[in-house]
Amino acid sequence: MRTIVEIKNMSKRFGSTIALSNVSIEAYEGEILGLIGENGSGKSTVTSIYAGMQKCDKGEMLFEGKPWSPTSMNDALKHGVGMIVQENGTVPGISVAENIYLGEISEYKKGLFIDRKSLMADSQKALDDIGAEHIKAEMVTGALDFQDRKLVEIAKVMVNDPKVLVVDETTTALSQKGRDIIYSIMNKMKNEGKTVIFISHDLDEIMNVCDRLTVLRDGNIIRTFLKVEFEENAIKTSMIGRELQGNYYRDDYGDEVKGKAVLKADNLNKGNQLVNFSFELHEGEILGVGGLSHCGMHTLGKVLFGAEGVESGEFTIRGEHVKSIADAMKKQVGYVAKDRDTESLNLDASIKDNIAIAGLDKFAVNNMLILPSRENKYVNAQIEQLSIKCSGANQYVSALSGGNKQKVAFGKWLGRDSEILILDCPTRGVDIGVKQAMYQLMYKMRQEGKSILLISEEMAELIGMSDRILVMKDGELKKELYRSKELSEADVIQYMI
Ligand SMILES: Nc1ncnc2c1ncn2[C@@H]1O[C@H](COP(=O)(O)OP(=O)(O)O)[C@@H](O)[C@H]1O
Ligand SMILES: [Mg+2]
Repeated sequence: MRTIVEIKNMSKRFGSTIALSNVSIEAYEGEILGLIGENGSGKSTVTSIYAGMQKCDKGEMLFEGKPWSPTSMNDALKHGVGMIVQENGTVPGISVAENIYLGEISEYKKGLFIDRKSLMADSQKALDDIGAEHIKAEMVTGALDFQDRKLVEIAKVMVNDPKVLVVDETTTALSQKGRDIIYSIMNKMKNEGKTVIFISHDLDEIMNVCDRLTVLRDGNIIRTFLKVEFEENAIKTSMIGRELQGNYYRDDYGDEVKGKAVLKADNLNKGNQLVNFSFELHEGEILGVGGLSHCGMHTLGKVLFGAEGVESGEFTIRGEHVKSIADAMKKQVGYVAKDRDTESLNLDASIKDNIAIAGLDKFAVNNMLILPSRENKYVNAQIEQLSIKCSGANQYVSALSGGNKQKVAFGKWLGRDSEILILDCPTRGVDIGVKQAMYQLMYKMRQEGKSILLISEEMAELIGMSDRILVMKDGELKKELYRSKELSEADVIQYMI
């Protein structure tokens, strides 16, 4: 069989995180190759490099036997390699048609004007062709729900008639209709002798759909299974392998949370992100919140920090309503956003400025006058407590590794003795050592009677750290699970999907 995609000895780091280490992958013509591995194993990184979204540090790529070095996603697409990304891949403020022909709008120029009629007609055909007739080319993309925006992305990729299609964990977020559209596109491509790389963490799905299956773990290729070798336990074992367990997470069980409720939410509603959502968070509790990326858990974190409003329902902290972020901070609530680079930190400022901003009321006189000696003492205490690796408090945050950036984001809130800490994917992109330090800090806070809402996409982390786990799906609370040695990832996942 002819090899179409070849990746040889590829490596990639993000700061101190090794995302890929000497990864080699081959995909043939007329096949659906599965890529599977735990969260963070490198699946998105390796495929997005092949699809032109980012560069590797080291390694070689071939496409149909020729050297392959796309300069952008559009460049890759023009030359035959398309990818449907895991996250949202459309621009919200423009029409569906403009998204589909993004990068090629100039082809629709007639003099100074754009030939909107042809643009709309071609776009509508692209949508109809994949079975998404219900979406209209002239609609504003931002008004569509996640599934329909995904379908727009698929239409955009498919009008370019790619020879290689990468589908990155798209199906889990789609309904059966959306899934069927993707499956039929994949099968059609396979039958035409083209190549599909299909990424999913749903083992059943991937075993059904794929011809071969390559397993990644911690940035390494572990093994490739042929269809005849597909066997659930063997694949699982290679995915999980020798994992750091035990003292990595907390190891106490049966230590009941007895503290009173400090945060109460009653019937919160906000679009499809929060649907009649009620819960309580107690003193001395780590409350996990899990679900698929778009289940509403990230919105929940923002709402509770006063950064977003709700349509109905209310929540209180120690019996009082929260009016704004400033008000939440006054009530000793801290928040580390999932997207720390844009929401939690100011990268173009020093460590000192980042940490100090949340602590003003702790060291400034009347919240106004900043005494440099007090500020330095405050900031240096955080750098020390968290062992932030830096040249000093004045170093810019943009120069730090991912793990150390995350420590700065933590430091903002630890310093001001937050009583309630809302953490959204706090260990995303940080290495094992920093992860461990964060878990220890969270546990220490719990023992001091503080409360943590741990929103996470990592099942192992939720199970390993939480006293209780709320599982969300489509904005609803689907299940409440209590800390137990017996709790498995499958126990949690079954309520998410
Ligand atoms: N832009 C980024 N910045 C920092 N770290 C990243 C970035 N992208 C990925 N990583 C890290 O690289 C590793 C591999 O990530 P990824 O390829 O997204 O894994 P997967 O798709 O298998 O879940 C993870 O540790 C992740 O946190
Ligand atoms: Mg991924």
